[in-house]
Amino acid sequence: MNDHRLTTRRALLGCLTFAVGLVWMGCSPTTPVGSTIVVGEFASLTGKEAVFGQSSHKGTLLAIEEINQSGGVLGKKIELKTEDTQSKQGESATVVKKLITRDQAVAILGEVASGRSMEAAPICQQYKIPMISPSSTNPKVTEGRDYIFRVCFIDPFQGTVMAKFARKTLKASKIAVLTDVAAPYSVGLADYFKQQFIADGGAVLIEQKFSSGDKDFKAQLTAIKAMKPEAIFAPCYYTEAGLIVRQARELGITVPLFGGDGWEAPELLTIGGKSMEGCAYSTHYSPDSTNPMVQSFGQKFKSRFGGEVPDAMAALGYDSVYVLADAIKRANGTDGPKLREAIAQTKDFEGVTGKTTMDANRNATKPAVIIAIKDGKFAFVETINP
Ligand code: PHE
Repeated sequence: MNDHRLTTRRALLGCLTFAVGLVWMGCSPTTPVGSTIVVGEFASLTGKEAVFGQSSHKGTLLAIEEINQSGGVLGKKIELKTEDTQSKQGESATVVKKLITRDQAVAILGEVASGRSMEAAPICQQYKIPMISPSSTNPKVTEGRDYIFRVCFIDPFQGTVMAKFARKTLKASKIAVLTDVAAPYSVGLADYFKQQFIADGGAVLIEQKFSSGDKDFKAQLTAIKAMKPEAIFAPCYYTEAGLIVRQARELGITVPLFGGDGWEAPELLTIGGKSMEGCAYSTHYSPDSTNPMVQSFGQKFKSRFGGEVPDAMAALGYDSVYVLADAIKRANGTDGPKLREAIAQTKDFEGVTGKTTMDANRNATKPAVIIAIKDGKFAFVETINP
């Protein structure tokens, strides 16, 4: 075989290997690599906080579908790859690594729970892939990591809001706190609340502790009852919150219990039942707002998801996508460092949870909403501005 024929054969073989390679990678030669923008999402779709993850996921999905229907971003469709964290500790870093290395996600959206966002944040930072948490409120999520953002307020604000609510609305000056020590969200919010409540002249009579997943709170509640507080702050997630309130009433505790955004789930009412009457919590948004953007989001969400009314996590999930899409447009691409820069420059970006402006620590500043349980339903009480 002369050299020329050998070169031709090698060239043919090379082409064939390349084509096989493309097919193996899942791309036919007619689908150029990178024809979509891959966005990764990690959410608690199953497990203890599945209600949160499902809600957030639906909001995220709706926004992506809307954007794709109107032509996508920079002429490309957004392709959402979602991974389930199963509400478990230790899953988030693994699934987010998969989204980045296997799926080549250009940005990561998630999680709801602060503890799980804190697990994934170092991975995104390491790969220089921007991450936007829709609703994790613990300050540590974004602290010291310039690729990590959020579109919600943080717990020093939420703690202040609830301390003022306790003093002014509940007229309580002596309080008990019940903290979930296994959830960084709970530990942080309890601390910020106590600081402000004490600064406002209130007294924290007792603090009791438990761990996520516990089902019996009678010992802690008995200790609390003995101190005769005027109200009880329980900054935890809805499953425990429902059980705590029910068991408090069973023990004859009649004072109001209240919490933060972790209480936001219809399950609070199914678990807590009638005991929930008169209790209250702070959150990010109320579907009852007359803001035309909130109303139209509510309509679209209901028609997409069988009549379901969107809650705060759905609204924040939805907003996180639009903030990301807007940044991709301004960055004119998805290169990590440029995209990071564009997200950092987000200013007055209008969404259903208010305007998003990234501050120097990559956090948004937004109003909080107080919801009370009245006649077995969630009722809007007031909006508190930062
Ligand atoms: N803020 C909570 C956390 O950081 C999560 C949450 C957000 C819960 C919104 C309910 C509504 O863990």
